Amino acid sequence: MTDPNDPNLEEINVDIDVQEILLAASQHDIRKLRELIRSNTTAENPVNVKDPETGYTPLHAAIAACEPDDDDTAGAAPNGVHTDDTDKQSEQEKLIQAGIDTVKFLLQEGAIWNDLDNNNETPGCLARRLGLKELYELMVDAGVRAEMLFSRLQGYERLSDDEGDDEEKEEGGHATENEAQESQPAQTSTEESERGEATPAATETEPDVTSSRYLQSHLSFQNDRLLDNDQNGVMMAWESDIMAKTARKLLPRPGLRVLNIGHGMGIIDGFFQEQSPSAHHIVEAHPEVVAEMKRKGWHEKPGVQIHEGRWQDVLPALVEKGETFDAIYYDTFAESYEDFRGFLSEQVIGLLDPDGLWGFFNGMGADRQISYDVYQKVVEMDLFEAGFDVDWEDIPVPPLEGEWTGVRRRYWVVDNYRLPICSPNQSNPTRAMYEDSPSELRAHRHRSLFQWVLDRSVDNTVPLALARQSSHRRIYLESTLRQRGESEWYGDDTVWAGV
Ligand SMILES: C[S@@+](CC[C@H](N)C(=O)[O-])C[C@H]1O[C@@H](n2cnc3c(N)ncnc32)[C@H](O)[C@@H]1O
Repeated sequence: MTDPNDPNLEEINVDIDVQEILLAASQHDIRKLRELIRSNTTAENPVNVKDPETGYTPLHAAIAACEPDDDDTAGAAPNGVHTDDTDKQSEQEKLIQAGIDTVKFLLQEGAIWNDLDNNNETPGCLARRLGLKELYELMVDAGVRAEMLFSRLQGYERLSDDEGDDEEKEEGGHATENEAQESQPAQTSTEESERGEATPAATETEPDVTSSRYLQSHLSFQNDRLLDNDQNGVMMAWESDIMAKTARKLLPRPGLRVLNIGHGMGIIDGFFQEQSPSAHHIVEAHPEVVAEMKRKGWHEKPGVQIHEGRWQDVLPALVEKGETFDAIYYDTFAESYEDFRGFLSEQVIGLLDPDGLWGFFNGMGADRQISYDVYQKVVEMDLFEAGFDVDWEDIPVPPLEGEWTGVRRRYWVVDNYRLPICSPNQSNPTRAMYEDSPSELRAHRHRSLFQWVLDRSVDNTVPLALARQSSHRRIYLESTLRQRGESEWYGDDTVWAGV
């Protein structure tokens, strides 16, 4: 007789359950999937199970099943006459629609948007490779929702601590490392990073790329690259074309005032100098870069003022002095997206002339196309909320084979660089709000985030599983209230007494 407590038996049951869920996903059988996921007691996280051989999750399986049949002979009748192409097309359309419905269902149940299979592909990468555009877009949107929510949880926690209080926390008011770790999705598996951007995923296997470690590390200045102590590429000469185009757009004529954050190899500063700016401020935090600047005589160039230190420490004093600029460029190293968001939402507004332009090195997520696409949308949302419009120009990146020898990590994979030029959006109410009260602005940002997430969520609710995983009870409860049709939930703090 079989022993129900036999651990081998439990393992077999788990395997069968996994295969059943994956099969139902690949058959786009939502009814069955719902039943299997909700009744499952063996798998820890039934909507995110994985096939041990392929690494497929239910999302991968649902997408893979939509692969177009490109076998020309498949529709041919025995006499060589082709069956009706229109029938074939509508079959494929139906299949895709079923795939879309299944993917939406899985996401709503809390499926992870960026889990990797054994081919190192997220479900979105798979959709892209198979040419399934609508499914790819669905996965990009899922990524945007998840990233926005998790990134804002940090600020949300902080807001409840210091509501109505304008004082900045340590680290220039940004989330501390612990806060950042706490609100990161445990399952983030892609390396959504730019050059030396710190990511929780990367830190497990690679030396920490944190700002403080970088700023203390010894640098190596070479002709075509600047490397840190761990051979991370801080800056590389292949980016010169990007820097030249950016500089020309930001400073279209001589005599303008420019602020550059992050000197690196001085490439963009060289292009700025070519435009004979009337003022050219450079903020640089690494002492060895500053020493190299002085060795090269940057401090004696026309209009140049070097500010030694982190922008977080330097910029408030510039705002205090009332300095403004026609152009600002931001390109740092080993800082997080949170740092950048702090910069764009709290610093630029005080330093940029109302008719000025600003830009940044757009390398976030550039080691994977879907991450790059997700971050473009996330940045666009953050820019909009901070009161800026953005124009993008695609610049083809030449093949970079051979560039990476001796560099720890290939941080650029995507084919096109999307060059951003941002300008103040005069009609954005956030701007007026900022002038009235910065704390009011912060509260507004958090409220509109939830509205934004809800507006874009499947069935207009924050995916409950996502909120549940986050362990942030308030959000979970808010989304529950939303489902019940309570519209004023986020404004009324009495609702949250005792939560
Ligand atoms: C990628 S490089 C800049 C490359 C530059 N755009 C060029 O054209 O050569 C980044 C620079 O930002 C500096 N940096 C990093 N964190 C900084 C911070 N918080 N404030 C100011 N500079 C910082 C680094 O030391 C480095 O010199």
